[in-house]
Amino acid sequence: MVLVAPEKKLLRVGVLFGGRSGEHEVSLASAASVIRGLDPDKYEAVPIGISKEGHWLIGSAAQKMLPEVLKAGQRVVMAADPTDAAIIPLDRSGGGQRIDIVFPVMHGTYGEDGTIQGLLDLAGLPFVGAGVLGSAIGMDKDVSKRLLQAAKIPVVPWLTVYRVDWERDPKAVQKEIEAKFKYPVFVKPAALGSSVGMTKVHSRAELAPALNLASEFAMKILVEKSVNAREIEVSVLGNHDPKASVPGEIVPHREFYDYTAKYLEEGTKLLIPAKLEPAQIKKIQKYAINAFRALELSGMARVDFFLEKKGGKLFLNEVNTIPGFTSISMYPKLWEASGIPFRELIDRLIELAMEVHREKARTKYQIELPEGTGGALEA
Ligand SMILES: Nc1ncnc2c1ncn2[C@@H]1O[C@H](COP(=O)(O)OP(=O)(O)O)[C@@H](O)[C@H]1O
Ligand SMILES: [Mg+2]
Repeated sequence: MVLVAPEKKLLRVGVLFGGRSGEHEVSLASAASVIRGLDPDKYEAVPIGISKEGHWLIGSAAQKMLPEVLKAGQRVVMAADPTDAAIIPLDRSGGGQRIDIVFPVMHGTYGEDGTIQGLLDLAGLPFVGAGVLGSAIGMDKDVSKRLLQAAKIPVVPWLTVYRVDWERDPKAVQKEIEAKFKYPVFVKPAALGSSVGMTKVHSRAELAPALNLASEFAMKILVEKSVNAREIEVSVLGNHDPKASVPGEIVPHREFYDYTAKYLEEGTKLLIPAKLEPAQIKKIQKYAINAFRALELSGMARVDFFLEKKGGKLFLNEVNTIPGFTSISMYPKLWEASGIPFRELIDRLIELAMEVHREKARTKYQIELPEGTGGALEA
């Protein structure tokens, strides 16, 4: 007699990668590492690439490398109809594919900002990380700061400039900025990552070019006081009872942690754990958890701080709801240093996504009317 082990049903995890943002390439590296981290005894990874043009592509079994999926994969669409198979061939050839859960590994616009999360909600799919609201808030540095202030979490003083105002009356905007800040200031688009479109402005002469550059990337621009600070980051994991990791420190080798320092040149140092006093660590972790709640986040976030070199004042700089996920990225590294290895981290994130999904499923969206009363209530 031959005994056949009952076939285990693997959870099909759609790993969304690429995307239309400037962080397309970063996403590929993060997604490849997430796929490697999915326990093959529990999960089947289904890589779903989004090209820079916005095409959705899925690889055949033979296409294992992510760039290959983007280049030669089959064009598909994600069905917003929750009763359909999630992934449908664009040309309607053959059947669709079932996906049980999605892990979006896309940074920036159309990935981290709530737009993809909205589509996944419509499709009725569980997904890793923040929902529509938290993602949208996390992506907007101006709205984030307003909510952080309301939660009594210190942020670097800033001024929000609308692109239309800058274009309509640059003199008035310059006056407003100079009344509030001394140079140097940081000028950055309100909703972008990877330091794209960002300038450290040292004098008046540099202000207009900086605002013009930021205007190319966003409708809203932040002008911030420049702080001379250590850059401390902490990872948060959880839903209603989030936990914070040990903090780490980024030591850029350039004037600030700009795009070149992040992705083009080696030399930036990651110190894990960061050298800090126990009281500082406690404060950073408390702010990180409070921020996670204040910004309506779920699943995961990397929370970045500035710790002033003189005086030791702490400011929350920003949150990242889909942090870098390569094997050398801060988010997973900090968890590793806090006792959660990479594979277990991915496992927990999927569990947390399922938990959010179960909670959503419990919520009613309409009242149930007794039969025959519908007509009378129609407006
Ligand atoms: N107000 C500031 N003072 C000093 N350095 C800053 C300030 N704002 C940004 N920076 C530098 O620029 C980097 C990127 O800025 P950040 O606001 O984190 O944008 P991004 O979302 O692109 O990462 C920071 O890591 C830091 O090195
Ligand atoms: Mg940053």
